[in-house]
Amino acid sequence: MNDSTPAPVHAAADDVSLSIEGVTRTFGTTRAVDDVSIRVRRGEFVTLLGPSGCGKTTLLNLIAGFLALETGEIFIDGQPISGLAPHERNIGVVFQNYALFPHMTVADNVGFGLRMRGVSKAETARRVQEALEMVRLPQMGDRRPRQLSGGQQQRIALARALVIHPQLILLDEPFSAIDKNLRAEMQVELKRIQRQIGITTIFVTHDQSEALSLSDRIAVMAQGRVQQLSEPTELYRRPANSFVASFIGEINRLVCERRDEADCAVLCAGDVRLRLPLSRAIGSGTQATLYVRPEALRAVEAGTPEANFGAGRVEAQVYQGTHVDLIVQGDNGWLLRIREPGFEALERHPVGSRVGVHAELAEAHVFQPGAA
Ligand SMILES: Nc1ncnc2c1ncn2[C@@H]1O[C@H](COP(=O)(O)OP(=O)(O)O)[C@@H](O)[C@H]1O
Ligand SMILES: [Mg+2]
Repeated sequence: MNDSTPAPVHAAADDVSLSIEGVTRTFGTTRAVDDVSIRVRRGEFVTLLGPSGCGKTTLLNLIAGFLALETGEIFIDGQPISGLAPHERNIGVVFQNYALFPHMTVADNVGFGLRMRGVSKAETARRVQEALEMVRLPQMGDRRPRQLSGGQQQRIALARALVIHPQLILLDEPFSAIDKNLRAEMQVELKRIQRQIGITTIFVTHDQSEALSLSDRIAVMAQGRVQQLSEPTELYRRPANSFVASFIGEINRLVCERRDEADCAVLCAGDVRLRLPLSRAIGSGTQATLYVRPEALRAVEAGTPEANFGAGRVEAQVYQGTHVDLIVQGDNGWLLRIREPGFEALERHPVGSRVGVHAELAEAHVFQPGAA
């Protein structure tokens, strides 16, 4: 999904809705959540993104109160919540597997949290209907969950979370059990509702395209720690470390020799010699790995000054509809993936031909090999 509607204007940076401060949780010897601190602005949509087992669900469970903190504190609107039971926290939660009560009607499922809180029957009925309308299923109140599709059940789960008018909503991989076709539709729908009511949202996924398309900011997690918390474009273009660079999108990883000068990092591989500002060269040493995305590389005429990334031989073409990837074996040993928009590269750069390679150095990053 490529949402072209403008992002909501953020409230002042100090308008913090959720504040996670130095939170840790271990299971035996596993540090599932390891000293995590995140501040989320009111109305912001923040995604926790990372591979399976990196601690996303554990962090959500700590916020919701299903698990106890070991260190740190969590604040909602400035109030510490670690002493509160889950139902005292005013947080809506949506799980991956819908988790609707099968024996209850849809309306009773949606109204469950209100009955638990002692809201009157008439007020419950009114708010249930309002929540069903919000998720565009106003006629479904009398049905049982099994009579609904997966996508509809997940909308009901969302209505059930929103009906209590929570200060915060948590969603744990809510669309991963839903058909791929329907998933895009559900994403648009969630974003519409989230913007409409302006609710602070923590969304968990291991799907980077879902994260990039929905989020105001993304926290990339690995091994219980937040590796980077940034806006999607920043995350993609300015990764903080090699894990983030490799985890988000496709990227060329190129080993270089490093011989720094006073004001810049100088990277060498064969006859290629690159100068990068030190601010984008993280760490130091005599070896480094250069990270550059395929779309920051371009095929040019070999031997020209434009070919700042050397020259090589086209080993393969990968046609992808909107672009062609050229796999180029560089004379200096680098194996490069170059992304050319359109389809012209299929004819212009046949397999076996020689090409020069130009790199947009403003889009290249250096990390120490193996550094997290
Ligand atoms: N109840 C538990 N008991 C023991 N280990 C757990 C428990 N819950 C999670 N873990 C471990 O904590 C780590 C993080 O798990 P989890 O938060 O579920 O990751 P994610 O949701 O990112 O896939 C994993 O190593 C997992 O095996
Ligand atoms: Mg999980």
